[in-house]
This record gives sequence, C-alpha cells and structure tokens, in this order.
Amino acid sequence: MSIYRIQGGIPLHGEVTISGSKNAALGVLAAAMAIDGPSVIENVPRVSDIETLLRIFSKLGADVEWLSHDTVSIDPTKVTSPEALMPEVHELRGSYYLLGAFLGRFSRVRQALPGGCNFGSRPIDLHLKGFTALGAANQRMTDEQIEIEAERGLKGASIFLNVVSVGATINIMLAAVHAEGVTVIDNAAKEPHIVDVANFLNAMGAEVRGAGTDVIKINGKAVLPGRKTYAIIPDQIEAGTFMMMAPLTHGDIKVNNVIPTHMEPLTNKLIEMGCLVEVGDDSIRTVLRPDETYTATTFKTMPYPGFPTDLQPQTVAMLCGAEGSGRVIENVWDNRYQYIEHLQRMGANIMCSGRLAIIQGGVPLKPATVPCRDLRAGAAMVMAALATEGESVIEQIETIERGYENFVQKLQGLGARISEERSK
Ligand code: EPZ
Repeated sequence: MSIYRIQGGIPLHGEVTISGSKNAALGVLAAAMAIDGPSVIENVPRVSDIETLLRIFSKLGADVEWLSHDTVSIDPTKVTSPEALMPEVHELRGSYYLLGAFLGRFSRVRQALPGGCNFGSRPIDLHLKGFTALGAANQRMTDEQIEIEAERGLKGASIFLNVVSVGATINIMLAAVHAEGVTVIDNAAKEPHIVDVANFLNAMGAEVRGAGTDVIKINGKAVLPGRKTYAIIPDQIEAGTFMMMAPLTHGDIKVNNVIPTHMEPLTNKLIEMGCLVEVGDDSIRTVLRPDETYTATTFKTMPYPGFPTDLQPQTVAMLCGAEGSGRVIENVWDNRYQYIEHLQRMGANIMCSGRLAIIQGGVPLKPATVPCRDLRAGAAMVMAALATEGESVIEQIETIERGYENFVQKLQGLGARISEERSK
C-alpha cells in the first residue's frame, strides 16, 4: 500500500494548472466508442480511471494511441463484439458508459458490472429505464454482469428521469444518437461534463440539443463519421479542491486553465465566508481577508448548478479551519460521510446525523495516519493534513490517483512538504 507523507502547517502559495475533467473525459472517451469513425481527444487527464478505461477499449479491439501527454486517438471501427467482460470493467464506475455506446452501435451489449467509489447504493435503474424506452427491453443482470438487447434496434423515445442522474443522462445520450427518430430526455442532469459529451457528439456528426438544460433532444443518425479533434473541459472538482486549500492553509492560490462559470457554486460560497476571490478569464485566485480568518456557513449539495457533491468532503475539511460552526447537507448520496471518522481521528469536532454534518471550526487538528475512504474523501484527508502542524500519513493513495493528475507535484509546486512512498 502506497502512502503520502505530509509535513503540514505550511501556507500554500502559488499557481497550479488544472487538468482536463476526469468525469467529462470518461463520458467523452466512451462517446468515442459510440461513433462510427476515429477521433482525437485533447486535454485528457492521465489519471488511473482514464488509463483503465482506455485499456478496456484496447482489449475490445479499438485502436487507442497516445499522441502526446494529454492527447489520445481512438478508432472504434475494429470493435466487432460488444462484450466487455474483462476484470478492468469492475475497477471504475465510468465503464458503464459502454452500455449506451454499444447499444447504439450494435443494438446489444454484454459487460461486467461497474465498480466505483462506495458511498451507499449506486443503482442503474434509470439507465435501464432509458434503454427500455429506446427499445432495448431484453435485460438480464446477475451479480457479475449485465446483458441488454434491442431485438428491433433502437427507436427514439421520450424519457423522464425521476431522479437527476449524470450517468443515466450520458448513457441514454450515447445510445440515442444512433436511435431511429427523436429522443427527449426530461429532467436531465446539467453538469458541465454533460455539455462536454454532447458537444463532442455534435462535433462527430450527431444532433444533440439542449445539453446543460433539463431537456435534451437527440435526433438519431445512422452514421456518426467522427474524424474530428475535441478538447475536454477543465476539471471543476480538481479546481475546487485546490481553491479550498487557500483558506484552509492560510495561503494564496491561483488556479489556471479553469472555466469560471463552472466554479460559481464554490466561488460564491468562498466570498460568503469572507475570502477574497479574483476571477480572471480562465483563472481564479483565492486568498484570506486581512485578519487571516474565514467564517463558517452552510453548504447544501445539489445537482449542477447547485454545490457539487464531489466537493463535499473537501468542504468539510475546509470548515474545520473556519470561525464558527459550519453545516453541510448531502442531498445527492445516501452515505457520503463515512470518511468523517478519519477527520475525527485528527481531532476534528464534527457531528453527523443522516444528511447533516455540523463542523465546529477553530479546533486545531493533530497529525495522524489516515486512509482514503474514496477518491474525494482522500483529497479531503490530504487537505486536512496540509493544514495540520506535524507529520501525517495518508494511506491507500491509489484511490486519490484515480482522479487527480500529478497531485504530489502540483502540491509541491505550491510549497507543500509532501512525499510519496510506493509499495508493490
Ligand atoms: C457521477 O456519478 C460522478 N461519477 C460522481 O463523481 C458524482 O458524485 C455524481 O455523478 C453526481 O454528480 C462519474 O461521473 C464517473 P448520478 P453517477 O447518476 O453518474 C441516483 C467522483 O468523485 N441514481 O448522478 O453514478 C444515485 O443513487 C464521482 O468523481 C439512481 O437512483 O451519479 C444518486 O443518489 C463520485 N438511479 C443520484 O441519482 C440511477 O440509475 C445521482 O447519481 C442512477 C443514479
């Protein structure tokens, strides 16, 4: 098990360039397997979830080639069998986008069940509801795998998602772009990565309208030729993670290569807490007010444009250093506070009850050895350690590296004293 060793208590200062969005890249790369020609995708983050997904594509027979550090070409035309049963499929959540991609191209798919962060149940009933509406009603799921078939091909349909779901919205889009006729997804998710996947599909010949609103209309096409280049948007969650390190470590951090509108749910809260935030065209600088304090407030996670659930653990860590008592209400996931016991091991004064966490700020943390419960909880542990005098050890850092590219190097660039120790 590999670890980070952190000497905390040092204010972080400087600039950090944000990588491409992991969650947009997972959808866009899967979309590259849904079209009928090659494509080139730029600004792809080199994180393990992406490497794993591309390994799955190669094993399926696609031509996958890294053209530079962050640019990959994918040619799916040699894939003839829509069966993804390799063990990698269970290593991440995003592998389930192959369901929509292969239903669209082959009208059938068989694959191992997806994996991903474990914070409560992660059903796919809405994905299956969408596929059924499109004509893929033959569905068999065991503990290990899922098989879906549309005996008479896919036909456009109107689908209402009774719960706003990023994954279901993307998966249904990936199938519907090849369905015969028009598909309408109502109560669709509006995250920036939904828009990114729709923009990629349109660049490759599809006709997807309304992404970013709660009604997406897709006019299916027989052939999506591809043969274009597309660049992934910056990672909203990586950017937010670094932005919150500024108040927590009493530092001054400028994140570069961001889309400020995507950051507004966090920017507005940082300002509400009294931080000074300078917003540029593609950068955001965050510092503390002159008295070096920031005031706790209440955060409620919601689907975009609400406050992102993927910044929830990082927010709880940040509130440990605020003046007063902060409150966080987790409205998206049933059980996303499991990591809090590890912050309490560092001395944090946090009370959880159902969807509510109450964080007593101004309680000095003490260094400790803590694990990474999941990807974003791991980032929160690193944040807490960076703000705590003394040496802390973060275990199971492979979990963090699923979604943060060059995390140690970026933190060292901001003055953090962090090192990694690898073990086989
Ligand atoms: C995506 O997960 C992200 N993962 C998650 O980020 C993120 O937390 C989540 O969206 C919400 O923003 C990827 O993009 C790979 P959902 P996803 O479907 O698509 C319920 C990270 O840290 N639901 O939007 O799985 C579900 O239980 C990861 O990068 C159903 O009920 O999330 C949840 O309560 C962690 N039925 C809510 O919808 C379904 O069929 C939102 O889930 C699907 C979802």
